[in-house]
Amino acid sequence: MNPPAIAIDGPAASGKSTVAKLIAKELGYTFINTGAMYRAVTWYTLKQGVNPADTAAVVALLPGIPLAFGKDGAVSTVMCEGRVLTDELTETATNENVSAIAAIPEVRALLVEKQREYNLAEPVVMEGRDIGTVVFPNTPFKYFVTASEEVRAARRAAQGLTDSIAERDRKDSARACAPLTQAEDAQLVDTSDLSIEQVVAHIVADIRSRI
Ligand code: DC
Repeated sequence: MNPPAIAIDGPAASGKSTVAKLIAKELGYTFINTGAMYRAVTWYTLKQGVNPADTAAVVALLPGIPLAFGKDGAVSTVMCEGRVLTDELTETATNENVSAIAAIPEVRALLVEKQREYNLAEPVVMEGRDIGTVVFPNTPFKYFVTASEEVRAARRAAQGLTDSIAERDRKDSARACAPLTQAEDAQLVDTSDLSIEQVVAHIVADIRSRI
């Protein structure tokens, strides 16, 4: 049996990243940001001059891709050729192309394998779109964190990011492979009218009552 895995899924700018990070801290688990993994593959694809819409060319890049998925303390990192990727992951070009890259089944298969590896030796709080449905379908700890579109757009703007989240969610929900969807056995947490502290307290209490 693997250590516990907490699955936090939801649309863009739902607050799931902030919430997942705090839950991990509270429980002493490692926080894994899977969006950063899809973003890193997207950034590298663009850097190589490969068109993200050219699926065959993207798939051909994968075997030699120089990305290392590791940790810094209790937080996941992505390194490329010895350097931790940070700002590259939220560049406009990365934002605009990540949904196309994330729709490629071979990309997902590679990253899902890496995501599961994080949980072999230690408990994790993992956030993404398909954690409860695909990465850890058997975990009893699944939360689908969402907020109204207006609230999410305002949160994105407050982060200083210009990102068409509605468009990205549409693409992420419509793709054939592992679309953004709430797992049947996930708890829905609408954060529109809740503070971060309230959301974290609710989820941590639920986990502690069952672990
Ligand atoms: O969480 P984020 O906004 O950084 O994720 C970026 C994109 O990566 C998102 O639009 C869809 C994709 N993604 C995914 O398909 N599956 C995941 N588990 C995480 C992210």
